[in-house]
Amino acid sequence: MSETMRSILNRRSTRSYMPAQITAEQRDAIINAGRWAPTARNAQEISIACVQDKALLDRLVADFAGGKPGPGFNHGAPTLFLLYGPKDFPYTQMDSGITVENMALAAETLGLGSVIIGCIRDFMNGEHGEGWRACFGIGADSVFTIALAVGTVKVPTPPKDREPGRVSYF
Ligand SMILES: Cc1cc2nc3c(=O)[nH]c(=O)nc-3n(C[C@H](O)[C@H](O)[C@H](O)COP(=O)(O)O)c2cc1C
Repeated sequence: MSETMRSILNRRSTRSYMPAQITAEQRDAIINAGRWAPTARNAQEISIACVQDKALLDRLVADFAGGKPGPGFNHGAPTLFLLYGPKDFPYTQMDSGITVENMALAAETLGLGSVIIGCIRDFMNGEHGEGWRACFGIGADSVFTIALAVGTVKVPTPPKDREPGRVSYF
Protein backbone atom coordinates (compact mmCIF):
# COMPACT_ATOMS: atom_id res chain seq x y z
CA MET A 1 0.00 0.00 0.00
CA SER A 2 1.33 3.47 -0.81
CA GLU A 3 2.19 5.90 1.99
CA THR A 4 -0.60 8.16 0.76
CA MET A 5 -3.21 5.38 1.02
CA ARG A 6 -1.86 4.37 4.44
CA SER A 7 -2.20 7.95 5.70
CA ILE A 8 -5.75 8.27 4.34
CA LEU A 9 -6.86 5.00 5.92
CA ASN A 10 -5.02 5.46 9.24
CA ARG A 11 -5.94 9.09 9.95
CA ARG A 12 -8.33 9.36 12.89
CA SER A 13 -9.82 12.28 14.71
CA THR A 14 -7.70 12.37 17.85
CA ARG A 15 -9.36 13.72 20.98
CA SER A 16 -6.62 13.09 23.54
CA TYR A 17 -3.21 14.76 23.32
CA MET A 18 0.11 15.03 25.13
CA PRO A 19 0.84 18.61 26.26
CA ALA A 20 4.23 18.76 24.46
CA GLN A 21 4.36 21.12 21.50
CA ILE A 22 5.03 19.80 17.98
CA THR A 23 8.36 20.79 16.42
CA ALA A 24 8.81 23.77 14.11
CA GLU A 25 9.62 21.34 11.28
CA GLN A 26 6.36 19.46 11.85
CA ARG A 27 4.42 22.72 12.03
CA ASP A 28 5.96 23.98 8.80
CA ALA A 29 5.41 20.68 6.97
CA ILE A 30 1.71 20.74 7.90
CA ILE A 31 1.36 24.35 6.77
CA ASN A 32 3.16 23.53 3.53
CA ALA A 33 0.77 20.65 2.87
CA GLY A 34 -2.07 23.15 3.27
CA ARG A 35 -0.42 25.67 0.98
CA TRP A 36 -0.05 23.05 -1.75
CA ALA A 37 -3.70 22.06 -1.71
CA PRO A 38 -5.50 22.76 -4.96
CA THR A 39 -7.83 25.76 -5.03
CA ALA A 40 -10.62 26.69 -7.40
CA ARG A 41 -9.36 28.87 -10.25
CA ASN A 42 -5.96 28.60 -8.55
CA ALA A 43 -7.16 31.45 -6.34
CA GLN A 44 -4.88 30.39 -3.44
CA GLU A 45 -7.26 32.34 -1.25
CA ILE A 46 -7.05 30.30 1.95
CA SER A 47 -5.06 31.82 4.81
CA ILE A 48 -3.83 29.95 7.86
CA ALA A 49 -3.32 31.37 11.35
CA CYS A 50 -1.14 29.08 13.45
CA VAL A 51 -1.81 29.36 17.18
CA GLN A 52 0.82 27.83 19.47
CA ASP A 53 0.96 30.40 22.24
CA LYS A 54 -0.47 28.37 25.13
CA ALA A 55 -1.85 31.32 27.06
CA LEU A 56 -3.61 32.66 23.96
CA LEU A 57 -4.95 29.24 22.98
CA ASP A 58 -6.18 28.58 26.53
CA ARG A 59 -8.00 31.94 26.48
CA LEU A 60 -9.70 31.12 23.18
CA VAL A 61 -10.71 27.66 24.39
CA ALA A 62 -12.06 29.04 27.67
CA ASP A 63 -13.93 31.85 25.92
CA PHE A 64 -15.63 29.38 23.59
CA ALA A 65 -16.50 27.07 26.50
CA GLY A 66 -18.08 29.98 28.36
CA GLY A 67 -17.59 28.31 31.72
CA LYS A 68 -18.81 24.87 30.62
CA PRO A 69 -16.54 22.13 32.00
CA GLY A 70 -14.79 19.72 29.65
CA PRO A 71 -11.60 19.20 27.71
CA GLY A 72 -12.18 22.20 25.41
CA PHE A 73 -12.91 22.27 21.71
CA ASN A 74 -9.27 21.56 20.85
CA HIS A 75 -9.24 18.45 23.07
CA GLY A 76 -5.99 19.69 24.63
CA ALA A 77 -3.97 19.77 21.41
CA PRO A 78 -1.08 22.27 21.69
CA THR A 79 -1.36 23.60 18.11
CA LEU A 80 -4.41 25.03 16.41
CA PHE A 81 -4.54 26.06 12.77
CA LEU A 82 -7.34 28.46 11.88
CA LEU A 83 -8.31 28.66 8.22
CA TYR A 84 -10.06 31.60 6.65
CA GLY A 85 -10.68 33.14 3.27
CA PRO A 86 -12.65 35.73 1.35
CA LYS A 87 -16.37 35.94 2.13
CA ASP A 88 -17.32 36.69 -1.44
CA PHE A 89 -15.41 33.90 -3.20
CA PRO A 90 -17.74 31.00 -4.05
CA TYR A 91 -15.16 28.29 -3.30
CA THR A 92 -13.75 29.52 0.01
CA GLN A 93 -15.52 26.79 1.99
CA MET A 94 -14.69 24.04 -0.49
CA ASP A 95 -11.05 25.05 -0.75
CA SER A 96 -10.79 25.23 3.04
CA GLY A 97 -12.05 21.67 3.30
CA ILE A 98 -9.50 20.43 0.81
CA THR A 99 -6.75 22.41 2.51
CA VAL A 100 -7.56 21.17 5.99
CA GLU A 101 -7.64 17.54 4.87
CA ASN A 102 -4.23 17.94 3.22
CA MET A 103 -2.99 19.25 6.57
CA ALA A 104 -4.60 16.43 8.54
CA LEU A 105 -3.01 13.87 6.24
CA ALA A 106 0.37 15.59 6.60
CA ALA A 107 0.01 15.36 10.39
CA GLU A 108 -0.78 11.65 10.07
CA THR A 109 2.26 11.13 7.85
CA LEU A 110 4.41 12.82 10.51
CA GLY A 111 3.07 10.47 13.19
CA LEU A 112 0.97 13.22 14.82
CA GLY A 113 -2.69 13.27 15.75
CA SER A 114 -5.17 15.82 14.51
CA VAL A 115 -8.83 16.66 14.57
CA ILE A 116 -10.75 18.98 12.27
CA ILE A 117 -12.70 21.52 14.32
CA GLY A 118 -15.91 22.92 12.90
CA CYS A 119 -17.76 23.60 16.15
CA ILE A 120 -16.21 27.04 16.64
CA ARG A 121 -17.37 28.37 13.28
CA ASP A 122 -20.46 30.28 14.43
CA PHE A 123 -18.60 31.56 17.47
CA MET A 124 -15.66 32.79 15.39
CA ASN A 125 -17.86 34.42 12.76
CA GLY A 126 -20.36 35.86 15.22
CA GLU A 127 -20.42 39.01 17.27
CA HIS A 128 -18.50 37.40 20.10
CA GLY A 129 -15.72 36.35 17.76
CA GLU A 130 -15.00 39.88 16.59
CA GLY A 131 -12.11 40.36 18.99
CA TRP A 132 -10.68 36.96 18.09
CA ARG A 133 -10.94 37.66 14.36
CA ALA A 134 -9.05 40.87 14.90
CA CYS A 135 -6.50 39.06 17.06
CA PHE A 136 -5.80 36.51 14.31
CA GLY A 137 -5.85 38.97 11.42
CA ILE A 138 -9.16 37.76 9.96
CA GLY A 139 -10.37 40.94 8.28
CA ALA A 140 -13.90 42.16 7.63
CA ASP A 141 -13.83 40.73 4.07
CA SER A 142 -12.89 37.28 5.32
CA VAL A 143 -14.74 34.42 6.93
CA PHE A 144 -13.37 31.84 9.33
CA THR A 145 -13.99 28.43 7.77
CA ILE A 146 -12.44 25.54 9.68
CA ALA A 147 -9.70 24.70 12.15
CA LEU A 148 -7.31 21.83 12.72
CA ALA A 149 -6.02 20.87 16.14
CA VAL A 150 -2.70 19.00 16.09
CA GLY A 151 -0.45 17.35 18.63
CA THR A 152 1.07 14.11 19.82
CA VAL A 153 -1.50 11.40 20.40
CA LYS A 154 -2.09 10.40 24.02
CA VAL A 155 -5.01 8.02 23.56
CA PRO A 156 -5.51 6.71 20.01
CA THR A 157 -9.01 6.83 18.52
CA PRO A 158 -10.40 3.55 17.21
CA PRO A 159 -11.55 3.68 13.59
CA LYS A 160 -15.21 4.30 12.83
CA ASP A 161 -16.71 2.16 10.11
CA ARG A 162 -17.79 3.91 6.95
CA GLU A 163 -21.43 3.64 5.86
CA PRO A 164 -21.85 1.08 3.11
CA GLY A 165 -24.01 1.87 0.11
CA ARG A 166 -22.77 5.42 -0.49
CA VAL A 167 -21.30 4.50 -3.87
CA SER A 168 -23.17 3.82 -7.09
CA TYR A 169 -21.64 2.32 -10.20
CA PHE A 170 -23.11 2.97 -13.61
C1 LIG B 1 -16.16 19.67 8.67
C2 LIG B 1 -15.82 18.86 9.91
C3 LIG B 1 -16.02 19.43 11.16
C4 LIG B 1 -15.67 18.70 12.31
N1 LIG B 1 -15.80 19.30 13.53
C5 LIG B 1 -15.40 18.64 14.63
C6 LIG B 1 -15.42 19.29 15.90
O1 LIG B 1 -15.79 20.44 16.02
N2 LIG B 1 -15.01 18.58 16.98
C7 LIG B 1 -14.58 17.28 16.88
O2 LIG B 1 -14.21 16.69 17.90
N3 LIG B 1 -14.54 16.64 15.69
C8 LIG B 1 -14.94 17.28 14.57
N4 LIG B 1 -14.86 16.68 13.35
C9 LIG B 1 -14.36 15.29 13.25
C10 LIG B 1 -15.46 14.29 12.90
O3 LIG B 1 -16.30 14.09 14.02
C11 LIG B 1 -14.78 12.97 12.47
O4 LIG B 1 -14.06 13.20 11.28
C12 LIG B 1 -15.77 11.83 12.27
O5 LIG B 1 -16.37 11.46 13.48
C13 LIG B 1 -15.09 10.57 11.69
O6 LIG B 1 -14.05 10.12 12.53
P1 LIG B 1 -12.54 9.99 11.99
O7 LIG B 1 -12.08 11.37 11.57
O8 LIG B 1 -11.74 9.47 13.17
O9 LIG B 1 -12.53 9.03 10.86
C14 LIG B 1 -15.18 17.38 12.19
C15 LIG B 1 -14.99 16.82 10.93
C16 LIG B 1 -15.29 17.55 9.80
C17 LIG B 1 -15.03 16.94 8.45
